[in-house]
Amino acid sequence: MNKKRFYITTPIYYTSGEPHIGHAYCTTLCDVFARSKRMRGYECFFLTGADEHGQKIEQNAESEGKDPQTYVNEKALIFKHLWEALKISNNDFIRTTEERHIKVVQDTFTKFLNNDDIYLGSYKGWYCKYCESFWTDTQVGENRLCPDCGREAIQNEEEAYFFKTKKYLNVLEKFYENPKSITPVSRKNEMINTFIKPGLEDLCVSRTSFKWGVPIKENEKHVAYVWLDALLNYISALGYDSSNEELFKKYWEDENTEIIHVIGADITRFHAIYWPEFLSALNLRLPDRIFVHGLLMMKDGKMSKSKGNVVSPYPLIDRYGVDALRYYLVREVVFGSNGQFTPEQFIERINADLVNNLGNLLSRTVSMIAKYNNGIIPEFVEKTTVFNTELENLVINTVKQYEEYIDDLKITEAYIEVLNLTGRANKYIEDTKPWILAKDEIKKEELNQILTHLAYILFVAGKLLEPVLVTKASEIYAQLGLKEEETSYKNILNVSLLNNRIVKKGDALFPRLDSKVEVEYIKSLMNNK
Ligand code: ME8
Repeated sequence: MNKKRFYITTPIYYTSGEPHIGHAYCTTLCDVFARSKRMRGYECFFLTGADEHGQKIEQNAESEGKDPQTYVNEKALIFKHLWEALKISNNDFIRTTEERHIKVVQDTFTKFLNNDDIYLGSYKGWYCKYCESFWTDTQVGENRLCPDCGREAIQNEEEAYFFKTKKYLNVLEKFYENPKSITPVSRKNEMINTFIKPGLEDLCVSRTSFKWGVPIKENEKHVAYVWLDALLNYISALGYDSSNEELFKKYWEDENTEIIHVIGADITRFHAIYWPEFLSALNLRLPDRIFVHGLLMMKDGKMSKSKGNVVSPYPLIDRYGVDALRYYLVREVVFGSNGQFTPEQFIERINADLVNNLGNLLSRTVSMIAKYNNGIIPEFVEKTTVFNTELENLVINTVKQYEEYIDDLKITEAYIEVLNLTGRANKYIEDTKPWILAKDEIKKEELNQILTHLAYILFVAGKLLEPVLVTKASEIYAQLGLKEEETSYKNILNVSLLNNRIVKKGDALFPRLDSKVEVEYIKSLMNNK
């Protein structure tokens, strides 16, 4: 069923550290989805936020001599500023220390208790304080290492509330039957084989060993365990539990809304197993899709402060512009696969796609229209030559493919199609050689149609790239002599939109980067950490 409305979420990031390009990766791809949907006329609510409770945050605040609330206030602002710098179009930013969220966590806990979904027990297990997760003997293995982060786990025992995970196993079975519920499908199989088949453990949902969490009203010694707290953000932000009935109805309860959680592979278990169970216990519908993206790694493995290989997005935005960074994130690593950040590939990607392909097509086309037709885009005539017919079909197919890919969260693939289109148009210039046609008066009509087709392709590519190139798309339109309000998506297949427009030559869309200098520059950023 094609749904008419969308709710897309990123994970809420821990405010225990500084944001890096890994966080920017997930948020930017979700932003491109949201912008693309809105551009096509759909309503889309896009949520991101901050996860502000837990032992690690309590400890970090203490080591900086701050009370935890002051500490998270500062950190949450850092994330908010980054999203502004990256031009992220989120509709809300939920913080787990907000009253609207705390109330939902407390009320949910009460509902679970009343419904016999949780019980008070005692927890013995291997605890990883970094991931704030308990693990079983098998999971930590002989070396007693946390299976998520690889660091040492310690034996721990404490009084805790537990959620009865087996009670909702049938819900999971049904959820997993839908081939799109968890993708890529390898992630779903991992859940089944690693956690479900060996037998699900009940999930610890409260803690007594630290204070910085949502207090449990029924038992003051306890605070809600971070994952119960964190997951509920997806509904507390919409006003579940009556703080905003209308928004919650529209974006969660209404079946016409497609609910999509985008997460990194490190937190699949919590979203693919416990979250659907919690929702079922609350009698709420389940999300339509949990999309698991891969992690952006560095040459020497995971990004980490201690390795000194963390890349902050800020200097990249300052030096190359927000569009270049957004494009790199969307294009370089296929959404859903793991990838690697290297300074060489970063520079190469910008030069190859934005400078040589898209930027070059724009400057060549505008220059030729200026030179061969007094700056006027000739009127479009359909199917004049084999070349033109091929291009017209290519545009129609590209738009169709683009939409299908975006709808299926294949965001990288969608943009590969768009750059293939501009690449094909560049090749078309080589094939048709307008500079030779220009010498022959009887070839004028043929030349004109080449110019028109090139200009039209630039409009289509600019439009499809607009969710990524949030500032530069307007420059493309301006150089083609279009006003912003004429560039609505409705016009994407309107071949006469550009008839008789007057082009305006502008600066290069993206300046060519000197690889040697820029690679050194990015390396210096990485070493400075
Ligand atoms: O896990 N490459 O928060 P977190 C790509 N608070 N994406 C990355 C990345 C990388 N190197 N590093 C992080 C938490 N991410 C919890 C989430 S949700 C209810 C609670 C992204 O700050 C990726 O999306 O550790 C990953 O899942 C998320 O940040 C983890 O962020």
